[in-house]
Amino acid sequence: MTISNKHFRTTLGKFTTGECVVTAGSGTVSPLGTTINAFCSVSLEPPQILFCLRRLAGSYASVMASPYFVVNILTKDQQEIAERCTVHGGGGLREGEYTISKYGPPILKGCLATIECKVYKNYPGGDHTIIVAQVLDLNCDPSSVTQNPLLFFNSQYCSFGDKKPEALGIEVAA
Ligand SMILES: Cc1cc2nc3c(=O)[nH]c(=O)nc-3n(C[C@H](O)[C@H](O)[C@H](O)COP(=O)(O)O)c2cc1C
Repeated sequence: MTISNKHFRTTLGKFTTGECVVTAGSGTVSPLGTTINAFCSVSLEPPQILFCLRRLAGSYASVMASPYFVVNILTKDQQEIAERCTVHGGGGLREGEYTISKYGPPILKGCLATIECKVYKNYPGGDHTIIVAQVLDLNCDPSSVTQNPLLFFNSQYCSFGDKKPEALGIEVAA
């Protein structure tokens, strides 16, 4: 079976994910964010996570230049940041919307949770690199229990409580 990019994306789009922005930048690298949903936990002891980054992404060199990064798990109200951080080269972050981690990268304010990490090992993953990282610090504000997550399903941003795909005008295959 020949698998086109579109078929792959449409099919994998049935797997609902959260949305994160990986932020990097310290020293000579300006603060930037890249939207990702290829993210998951790897290990409890030691605590490790992974995310996948496309090797040809404009933000690739900047993210890979930084040994530290933060995974910012977005709320429904942060869709604009997610959209801004899909631009070529990674999205610029606005002053006032982040603080700086003691490890260097920006930490976005108002997220469901933020995870400060140090790169452990990179592995090839087709046209992506799989970045496995050690978790250094976690921040999960108790007030976030009242926030809804930003989700991605059927190639659309959505959240809990949204209307069904038909009502959103998304084509549902027979
Ligand atoms: C919902 C969503 C999820 C994404 N997830 C990833 C991801 O997990 N890994 C990745 O490398 N790019 C992902 N991207 C694309 C990046 O944000 C990408 O770097 C950005 O679109 C800039 O593209 P360019 O630098 O290749 O031109 C995602 C984009 C969207 C809209």
